[in-house]
Amino acid sequence: MGMNGVLRPGHAAIRVLDLEPAVTYYIEVMGLIETARDDRGRVYLKAWDEHDHHSLVLREADSPGLDYMGFKVVDDATLDAMAAGLAARGVAIEAVPAGEHVGTGRRVRFRVPTGHAFELYAHKDIVGNGMPTMNPGIRPDALKGIAPVRLDHALMYGADLDGTVALFTEVLGFQVTESVAAGDTVIAAFLSCGAKVHDIAFVRQPADGKLHHIAFYVDSWDDVLRAADTIAANDVSHDLGPTRHGISRGQTVYCFDPSGNRNEVFTGGYMWYPDRPPLKWTADELPRALFIHERKLRDSFMSVVT
Ligand SMILES: [Fe+2]
Repeated sequence: MGMNGVLRPGHAAIRVLDLEPAVTYYIEVMGLIETARDDRGRVYLKAWDEHDHHSLVLREADSPGLDYMGFKVVDDATLDAMAAGLAARGVAIEAVPAGEHVGTGRRVRFRVPTGHAFELYAHKDIVGNGMPTMNPGIRPDALKGIAPVRLDHALMYGADLDGTVALFTEVLGFQVTESVAAGDTVIAAFLSCGAKVHDIAFVRQPADGKLHHIAFYVDSWDDVLRAADTIAANDVSHDLGPTRHGISRGQTVYCFDPSGNRNEVFTGGYMWYPDRPPLKWTADELPRALFIHERKLRDSFMSVVT
């Protein structure tokens, strides 16, 4: 079975307090590449190995946080079918016209029960990864900073975790790869739309619509360590790591952008195939599930969201 529905996280649109310091951070420290600015003042960026036009959109606002996250689907027919599936569940659909994002086709926007806005779309202009597709190289020259290969996943906080997970699994074709439960109550769910260990995750918390982090992928543990060196060298606000998660087995370091949005630099994690048994954790093992070495919860990590 190939991927025939939602392909991957396509973009995160986040709010920043001051645009230019944010752009400088995402280019010089995170190592993303600016691809466009629009007449609404938004700045579009991509990770170097993404071929599509952008994966991060920055907008200046009075408070940080997530405006919406977009997922790319395989084609227009899938976009229409998923929009119809959402509508059939009583989810309000907003049609966003082609071109509202630079280089992007029509989008379908909707809000999930945890209060977050998501989008689906089938087209984004291909701008390439800085190397030819015929006889390519390994890595373009002149990358800056951490230089992740892609936007990987995001983790969000909200109250009605069950409602959001139901939409993602029953309408959008995601699978829960790992979860944490207190008795019968799921308090965290990690979901995949393909072969990655997670593409989106939700934690049950009373405040809706909150962003815990967006994550960028690097190729190795060495790259995570180098990312931490870059975070330190640039005096960026550090959260925790480098360390390893129990959930996903991923290796990680966390920091904050200049507006306080948490970023993760992530690598590893096992392959997810649809016949793999999901992993379950009990709430009393949450410290080990989050940080398998320290086995301690960190207040700032648990409570700081945008
Ligand atoms: Fe993460």
